[in-house]
Amino acid sequence: MKGKILVTGGTGFIGSHTVVELQNAGYEVVIVDNLSNSNADVVDGIERITGIRPTFAHLDCNDMSGLKSLFEKEGPISGVIHFAASKAVGESVQKPMLYYRNNLVSLLNMMDLMAEFQVKGFVFSSSCTVYGEPDVNPVDENAPVKPALCPYGNTKQIAEEIIQDASVPGMPYNSIILRYFNPIGAHPSAEIGELPNGVPQNLLPFVTQTAMGIRSELSVFGDDYNTPDGSCIRDYINVVDLAKAHVKALDRMLEGKSAEPVEIFNLGTGNGVSVLELIRTFEKVTGVKVPYKIVGRRDGDIEKVWGAVDKANQILGWKAQETLEDTLATAWKWQLKLREQGLM
Ligand code: WQD
Repeated sequence: MKGKILVTGGTGFIGSHTVVELQNAGYEVVIVDNLSNSNADVVDGIERITGIRPTFAHLDCNDMSGLKSLFEKEGPISGVIHFAASKAVGESVQKPMLYYRNNLVSLLNMMDLMAEFQVKGFVFSSSCTVYGEPDVNPVDENAPVKPALCPYGNTKQIAEEIIQDASVPGMPYNSIILRYFNPIGAHPSAEIGELPNGVPQNLLPFVTQTAMGIRSELSVFGDDYNTPDGSCIRDYINVVDLAKAHVKALDRMLEGKSAEPVEIFNLGTGNGVSVLELIRTFEKVTGVKVPYKIVGRRDGDIEKVWGAVDKANQILGWKAQETLEDTLATAWKWQLKLREQGLM
């Protein structure tokens, strides 16, 4: 084994796919999750894919004493990947204190314990949200961090600053901050995927649920933007590709290859795709129509953002491999599996 990695939020969408890739790479994994936005059945799905059942601790990262006991029991921990956070843009506007407390206290707890237990590598799950509306696309890691448009985005910006400020001499661990663009899709086995609670906030789960007939039609939030077809543009990245980047980041730190105490990488495809293009591509790939209507813009939406990914390509040695078509096909296969299992 290459060492033991603690993955907070490991039963979540990106977390679960990352656990699979960590196990595939030879790491032993301990999942910490409070199941506030995921289900313990995900652990079974991971085991069905890899044949290895990760350790699962049903814990909240705001529970310092519970976390400390876990470090004492499971140690030594070589690395930590911290996904656990509340992440709905709209909800963060309604419940700012929940977002600041949950997202920042959980981070501070993990950072204290990583220092105390001599962890070597820390991967932090950040987001392209920190860029706001970029002046230039594709946006690279040196672009200015713009004032956040919502408490969720602000917690990511503050978290990045805390990690930078805390990386003082003597800190036992190096950090890599990964700024995701828009993660989509599901594991090709359809054993794990995105399972949003309630009405999906994100585009692709809403598309697949509409295609399945669970939702009557998709609302496209605006077609009057300054883009070729008027709808917003994003950089949609396959979730398995994204998960593999986390293994590359951990390997880099645990093999002592970090160039500096804190490194930042964009994780995207480098290509921008509009909402209407994504809908058309989904219909082409699946043969299923997606009824939609154009409605007003959604507050806080960025007009267009896609990532410059040369740094991740050249330094991490990572590049997104999956096409948009293949990725959309995995999302639909996952939605069909949920229907087959009577889950949706
Ligand atoms: C994408 C596009 C919408 C739903 C957020 C977070 C980001 C990350 C991903 C956590 C936008 C449009 C959407 C719908 C629509 N979160 N849309 N109808 O807002 O780019 O990013 O989620 O890691 O950090 O900021 O993603 O999927 O919500 O929206 O027209 O029913 O789809 O307007 O243009 P977003 P999204």
